[in-house]
Amino acid sequence: MKTPLVQAVLDYVNENTARFHMPGHKGGKLVSPSCFNLSWSYDLTEIPGTDNLHAPAGAVKEAQELAARAFGSDACFFLVNGTTSGVQMMLLATIGPGDTVIVPRNCHKSVWDALVLSGARPVYVWPGYDEERDLATQVSPEDVRLAIEQNPQAGAMMIVNPSYYGLAPRLEEICSILDEHGIVSLVDEAHGTHFVFHPGLPKSAADCKADLWAQSAHKTIPALTQASYLHARRGRVDLNRLRHIHSMLTTTSPSYLLMASLDWARAYMEVTGRRETDRLLDIIADAKRKLRQLGIDTMDGYTRPEVESMDGTRLVLDLRDLGLTGFEAEVVLRRHGVQVEMADMRRLVCICTVADTQADFERLIGACRVLWDQRRQPRDKGIKLSISREMPRQEMSPKEAFYRKTAHIPLEASPGRVCAGIIGAYPPGIPAFCPGELIDKGGIAGLLEIKAMGGRLFGLTEDGLIPVLAE
Ligand SMILES: Cc1ncc(COP(=O)(O)O)c(C=O)c1O
Repeated sequence: MKTPLVQAVLDYVNENTARFHMPGHKGGKLVSPSCFNLSWSYDLTEIPGTDNLHAPAGAVKEAQELAARAFGSDACFFLVNGTTSGVQMMLLATIGPGDTVIVPRNCHKSVWDALVLSGARPVYVWPGYDEERDLATQVSPEDVRLAIEQNPQAGAMMIVNPSYYGLAPRLEEICSILDEHGIVSLVDEAHGTHFVFHPGLPKSAADCKADLWAQSAHKTIPALTQASYLHARRGRVDLNRLRHIHSMLTTTSPSYLLMASLDWARAYMEVTGRRETDRLLDIIADAKRKLRQLGIDTMDGYTRPEVESMDGTRLVLDLRDLGLTGFEAEVVLRRHGVQVEMADMRRLVCICTVADTQADFERLIGACRVLWDQRRQPRDKGIKLSISREMPRQEMSPKEAFYRKTAHIPLEASPGRVCAGIIGAYPPGIPAFCPGELIDKGGIAGLLEIKAMGGRLFGLTEDGLIPVLAE
C-alpha cells in the first residue's frame, strides 16, 4: 500500500521536534479527557443531535454564541477553511463589483483572491518600512486618512492585526477614522485570536470596534488546522447577507472535529488563557535574555510610530549579527530538533502558544547555541531599501485580469504589459505588481536590483517568467 502523505506525517511526528509553528495546540499537548483525543470515531457530520452549521439551531448555535461572547462579537461563525475563507466572506459581504476597498499593499494573498471573487477595485496603502531591519511594518492612521481623502467613494478597508512578525497597527484609531467616514472595517486577525485573553497583548479587533474580523484559531490557540472564527459587530454589516455568504463559501459537510476544536479551544482559553499566557510570557522573557547572549536580537521593545505594540508571544529571531540568513538558520535548527514557523532573509519567526513548555524553549535555545557556533562575519549592511511610494497604474480590476488569457514572459520583456499575478521581492515582501496593474521599467529594474543584492523574487514561474495578460 503506497501512502506517501501518511508517511510524511508519520516521519515528522517521529522526529519529535519542538514545534514553534502552527497549529497552536503543538501536537495536542493540552488535550485532556475534556476534549476527545482525536480518533476517527469522532469524525461526524450533520446527524440528529449534532446540529447543522448551515442552519444552526442546537449545539453549533450554542457553541458559536459562546464564542461570540468570549471574543466580544455580536455574532460568530465557525470556519472550516481557515481565515482564507473568512477574508473572502468579509469582502463579499460588504462590497460588490466595481466598489472600492482600501487594502494594505502587504496584505495576505487571500485578499487578492477575494477581490477576484467580489469584482471590487483595490486602492492600496503602503505599510511603513523599517529600512534598518528590512521589515514592512503596518499602515498608519495618517495614511488611512489620506487614502480616504483621495478615495471618498471607498466602502471598506482591510486591516491586518497583527502582522506575521507580531506587529500590531494603531487599530483603534484606524477603526475610528473608518467609522467617521462610514467605511466598513474588516480586520484580518489571523494571528491575533489570543489577544482577548490577556491584557498585556495588543488590542483585539473587538476592543477597537471593528465591523468584521476573522481569526485563525488554529495558529495561536489550541484548535485544529483550518479552524477559524469569523466575527461580526452589529450595525454596519448586514448579518443576513453575511450568513448567506458564510453558507455559500462553506462545504455542506463541515468537519465536526474542526468545529468541536473551536468550541474546546475557546473554553480552554476562557478558563486558563490568562494564567497560561502569563506563564508563557515569563518563559519567553527568559528565553529572550538567553538568546541575546547568543547574539540574537529578538526585537524586544520594538517601536515605530505606526506600530502600536508587538505581540509578546511572537518570538522573532533577527540573525543579522550572526551573519546567517533565516533560511540557513532554519535548516540548522531543524537538524537540531526544532522547527520554526517561518524564515526570511535575516529572521526566523516562532509561533509560541500556551501549549509550549519550558522544555520546548530549552531545546530552542540549545539549537540556537549551534547558530552561535556557526556565526559568520555579518554582511556590512542588509539590503537597504526604501519602498517606492508610486503605485503602478491599475488598468483593470483583479477580477477582469483573472478572466483574461495569460502568457509567461521574461521579466526584461514585461514593461508595458499588464500583470496577471502578484509579483515582488523579499525584502521588502510587498508586491511590486498586482493583477491588473501596468508593469513599468522602473519597477522591473527595482526587482532585478534586489535580486542582484541577494533578495528573492516571488510570483514567477519556476523558470523565472512573469505572468502577464496575453496580447
Ligand atoms: C495575515 C494572514 N491572513 C490570513 C491568513 C490565512 O489564514 P488561514 O491559514 O487560516 O487560511 C494568513 C495565513 O498565514 C495570514 O498570515
